Amino acid sequence: MILKGYNQIMKLKKIVMVIKRILRGAKKLLNLAWQMDKKITILYYFSAAIGALVPLAASIIFKLLIDYLQAAQSANLVTVPIIITFSLSSWYLVTLIENLVYFGYNQDYLDFLFRYKLQNEITLKFHNKISNLDIAYFENPKTQDLITKTRDTMQWRLPDFLRTLSYFFRDVIGYLAAFLVLLPFGWWIPIVVTLVTLPRLYLKAKYGAIQWSIWGSGAPQARKLWYFNHLLQEPTAVREIRISQSGKVLLNKFKDIQNYLFELNKKPLDTYLKVSIIPPLLEVLAIILIAYKFLPSVISGVLTIGSFTLIISMLGQLSSRAANASARIGEFYENNLYLNHYFDLLSLPALIKISKKPVILKKSTPPKIEFRNVSFRYPGGPKVLKDVSFTINSGESVAFVGHNGAGKTTIVKLLCRFYDVTEGEILINNVNIKKLSLSNWYKYLGTLFQQFVHYHFTVRENITLGAPNKKDDRAIKEAAVKSGAAEFIEKLPKKYDQMLGRQFEEGEELSDGQWQKLAIARAFYGKPPVLILDEPTSSIDAEAEYEIFNNLRKQYQNKTLVLVSHRFSTVRNASKILVVDHGQIIERGSHKKLMKLDGKYAKMFTVQAKGYK
Ligand SMILES: Nc1ncnc2c1ncn2[C@@H]1O[C@H](COP(=O)(O)OP(=O)(O)OP(=O)(O)O)[C@@H](O)[C@H]1O
Ligand SMILES: [Mg+2]
Repeated sequence: MILKGYNQIMKLKKIVMVIKRILRGAKKLLNLAWQMDKKITILYYFSAAIGALVPLAASIIFKLLIDYLQAAQSANLVTVPIIITFSLSSWYLVTLIENLVYFGYNQDYLDFLFRYKLQNEITLKFHNKISNLDIAYFENPKTQDLITKTRDTMQWRLPDFLRTLSYFFRDVIGYLAAFLVLLPFGWWIPIVVTLVTLPRLYLKAKYGAIQWSIWGSGAPQARKLWYFNHLLQEPTAVREIRISQSGKVLLNKFKDIQNYLFELNKKPLDTYLKVSIIPPLLEVLAIILIAYKFLPSVISGVLTIGSFTLIISMLGQLSSRAANASARIGEFYENNLYLNHYFDLLSLPALIKISKKPVILKKSTPPKIEFRNVSFRYPGGPKVLKDVSFTINSGESVAFVGHNGAGKTTIVKLLCRFYDVTEGEILINNVNIKKLSLSNWYKYLGTLFQQFVHYHFTVRENITLGAPNKKDDRAIKEAAVKSGAAEFIEKLPKKYDQMLGRQFEEGEELSDGQWQKLAIARAFYGKPPVLILDEPTSSIDAEAEYEIFNNLRKQYQNKTLVLVSHRFSTVRNASKILVVDHGQIIERGSHKKLMKLDGKYAKMFTVQAKGYK
């Protein structure tokens, strides 16, 4: 017995918690709308309130009309035509107001404007946040998931929430007004009707909460479904799946998850269906009883027929408004989930703290780069760099080699300060990287990552995006020639103005190697003092690669070149080679020196060279 009571209290507590969460979400979203456009927000909710009051006014006018007609019947009044014309026209006027203000202005006009503006504001805020979000968040599956979900749902879920809120607001206003109209006929009437609608509210809240928690418990599966949705239409995946014929297996998995989530959601709905008959029965019963109670007064003439009609219509109004308002709870629950995603994303804290008085590098010559006893682990992961120390002098060309997963790309990421080191320090011209102004530091860097972007823009834009502030046609061509891209660009119908990719009309698709050459041209274009290329030539044929690197070396005589590569034919020409092995630098020096050392490098080199013989 005590346990049962305890359980009930816990359930109630849970419901209260969820309602609190919804209120918090509503407050944040309303605040956003308010900041966006105060006028439109007020008008939107104000016209919704008018929409609630108009039917009430119509009922009151109707009551007056009936009362008057009743009086006229017994007293043979001469003003009958005037009064009837007057009340009928005011009745039509009220309906007209409803049509104009609620259905016309609120529903057709404001609803569209408010929604459209809100969607723009929401997406703008989202992209603004994304563009400043630490790179680490994009590499973390959890936040990546949050980003995808928010992106896919914010545009309609958030405006939906505010629309539901306006319906809810209208119901509440309508309810309160009916409450007040009924009060003079007996204070107990609205209270009885309210009490009778409580079971409906309770059931809605309870089953809403159950569905809500299902969402929580089914979330990993829902996430998987989301992933499948993405995977099954992703071009590279489609190709692979087609040949390996794994489509059926994957689709079956997809279907299993769909079914699982469907059943999970259906169960509480089934139970709800059984109990949902109770609230309307109670409500109808209460209305009939109240109406019955007034009948004697109507017959005896104490209560006018008009008042009686008003009571009946207000009772209907009261219970239907309450029913409607509680039905909205489910919608609130659901949309609030997406609302939370959105605001969770917006409130992700910055991981990389920028120094309050950042140091600005002034010289245009490449700075000296030094890793001093650097260790690093990705959030929640094991150490991937262990006590790494090296120096890259101004204008030096350095190559990193090592097995897959050795930590080469991680070193590059630290150099770009996508992450902060776990131990040790990175010094740029003897200044800790944490003290540098990042936007200033990035002006010194040109980077090409293993995974790079295929911009579905023109060739010209693909190149100039490397240094968007620079406008130099000759430099565009020069970058294209040096990266080996010029050759295929000249053969494109519109050359440098050729649209690329299949996203838009007239776009030409390039081969992987051609895209890569273009990406090198992009990194090249700004002639950054420090150029970092992380496996820039994996899709480029050996001959072209040789050419590109000859050009690169010429170009980068007095600039720093950092190269990560698995191709020793390229690596061997670097002035300094750093061999990374399981997160440590195990050998360093020129090709000659490392060959003489006859260690790991020499072994790897020989294995690859043998392959070419
Ligand atoms: N975002 C990440 N989160 C967690 N661990 C990561 C992340 N990126 C890389 N790692 C781990 O860090 C280690 C080093 O990875 P890194 O990408 O630096 O290797 P790499 O030397 O560039 O390899 P490759 O030659 O394959 O490009 C690997 O064990 C990898 O699993
Ligand atoms: Mg790598």
